[in-house]
Formats: sequence, structure tokens, C-alpha cells
Amino acid sequence: MELAGTSAVVTGAGNGIGRAIALALAAEGVNVAVADIEEDAAARVASEAAEHGVGSLAMRVDVVEEDHLRQLADRAWERFGSVELLFNNAGVIHPMKPLVETSASELDWCFGVNVGGVMNGIRVFGPRFVASERACWIVNTGSEHSLGVPHLQAGLYTATKHAVLGLSDVLRRELPEGVGVSVLCPGIVESTLWRATERRHEAYGGAEPGNELGAAAMALGLPAEDIAARALRGVRDEEFFIVTHPHVVEIAEERWRGAEAAFAAQAPRYDGDEQYAADNVLARLSGSA
Ligand SMILES: NC(=O)c1ccc[n+]([C@@H]2O[C@H](COP(=O)([O-])OP(=O)(O)OC[C@H]3O[C@@H](n4cnc5c(N)ncnc54)[C@H](O)[C@@H]3O)[C@@H](O)[C@H]2O)c1
Repeated sequence: MELAGTSAVVTGAGNGIGRAIALALAAEGVNVAVADIEEDAAARVASEAAEHGVGSLAMRVDVVEEDHLRQLADRAWERFGSVELLFNNAGVIHPMKPLVETSASELDWCFGVNVGGVMNGIRVFGPRFVASERACWIVNTGSEHSLGVPHLQAGLYTATKHAVLGLSDVLRRELPEGVGVSVLCPGIVESTLWRATERRHEAYGGAEPGNELGAAAMALGLPAEDIAARALRGVRDEEFFIVTHPHVVEIAEERWRGAEAAFAAQAPRYDGDEQYAADNVLARLSGSA
């Protein structure tokens, strides 16, 4: 998809990957709406974006609140006239711990932001993109955690990022041609994700100090600017999977090898087995087969 002359909305754009995406877009001449739960950070990035001579706006948005996304869409359309790109990027990670020690409120928080926030963006912007009849694109930020299990102690986070891959894969098949979808799947990136608990809502347990191990690990990650450059290239090339860290292929392969071996041992193919394929069952029910 051609980026020149378009306008974009980026959530979680006050810091890290979202900030780098917003600034990379601005450098390409794309107008950009910078949305973040941290209002000051959003304002800083919007004024950095404006230095590229594009239109920009900053807005405090909590992606858990569908209404915030509606207001953001209204403001972006009002300011730019149209919007063609949505980066559903805001995300959080819970303190590192085994799944059995995670709490119900950590689950609600991580799923609320990482999955609910992405769905709110899709629900608000998806119908507008379809109605606009312009070429549009939605990028949902997943992770290497969308493709397998890169490391332990982040189980809820892993589950949310699998969900982002799943819903993105459905969405790309449901939307009409002209509205594309990508899932961005980075490994470790320099960012402030380790500070996620400092921004945690009262409803989910309130703020607590960030994760020092996470801070040290993320300081060793790929620069966010690299991820942003790959994200823009992915949209230009209309790729569904946007991948960034070559070693992550092993994580995806390990998942697939496990599934493949299980099928070979327990459920090998046989002639006529496709009678149970959901598509065929539904076609028989609808009388089209
Ligand atoms: N940093 C990594 O190693 C890494 C790797 C793969 C994927 N990711 C994903 O990339 C995305 C961006 O994270 P990042 O690494 O740049 O971290 P980051 O913390 O630097 O940026 C995330 C931004 O989202 C904002 N945010 C948090 N909760 C929000 C909410 N409810 N509503 C609106 N904004 C909110 C934060 O204020 C922050 O500015 C996330 O979805 C994250 O899961 C990060």
C-alpha cells in the first residue's frame, strides 16, 4: 500500500515502538495522530512528528475504553480529513511470574489492554475504513509471543499475543479487499514496556514499580526505529506477518514441528477425512454442497 498522502492513528505512541512508528510515518509525510494513556508523552511525540512538516495531534487515550477510540477517530478525521492507517500498538506486560501465580486482575488487565484495546480499535476504525472505500491498512502489534513460547514467566502476555495473531488472521479474511491487516511480531525491543505496571489502572490493581529485569533485558533489544522501519515496509509490501528478529523463526518452527509430529502419530490423513472440515460441514448445512 502506498503511504504517501495518507493519515495514521497510532496507539501507545508516546513511547517505544509506537513512538518510533509515529515518527517514521511523519518522516514519510504521513499525518499522524499520537494516542497514549500518558498524555505528556503523546504531546511530546506529536510535536516531534510535526517537525517533519506533517499534520499531527496528540490525545490521551486509554485503549480499554471504546469511547476514547471513538473520540480519537472523530478528532483524527476532523483534523486530517481522512484516516487510512491504524496501528493498534498499545500494550502491557505483567510482572514476570509462573501462570499459576498470576492473579485474576492481572489477567483482566493484560487481556483488557492487549486484546480488548486492539478489538476496540478494530471495532471503531474497521467500519469507517470499509465505508471510506479508500485503501486502508490495520497493523496489530503482536509479538514473538504470538508465534510460540519465547520464554517463561510471561504466560498471560503470551496468551494475549496469541489472541492478537488469531483475531488478526480472521480479520484479514473478513475485511474486503482494500482494507489490509498485518500482525507485527517483534522479539525484544528497546522500549519502556518494563514500566507497564507504573501505568496500571486502579481497576486492575493500580500502579506499582516497573520490572528491573525487564528494563535490563529491553536495554539489550533491537532499537525501536528498526521495528518501525520494518513495520512501514510490511505495510508497503502488504505483508500479513511482519517479522523483525530472524531467530524467532525457530520459535515458530518448534510450535509447528510439535503439531506436525502429533498429527503424524495420532491423526494421519486418510481419504475422505475432509468431510469433517468445518467449511465442508457448514457448506453441507447451507445446502451449497
Ligand atoms: N518491547 C518489546 O520487547 C516488545 C516486543 C514485542 C512486542 N511488543 C509490543 O509492542 C507494543 C508497544 O510496546 P513497547 O515495547 O513499545 O512498550 P512501551 O511501554 O514503550 O510503549 C507502550 C505504550 O503504550 C502505552 N499504553 C499502555 N497502556 C495503555 C492503554 N491502556 N491505553 C493507551 N496507551 C497505553 C504506554 O503508555 C506506552 O507509551 C506492545 O503491544 C508490546 O506488547 C514489545
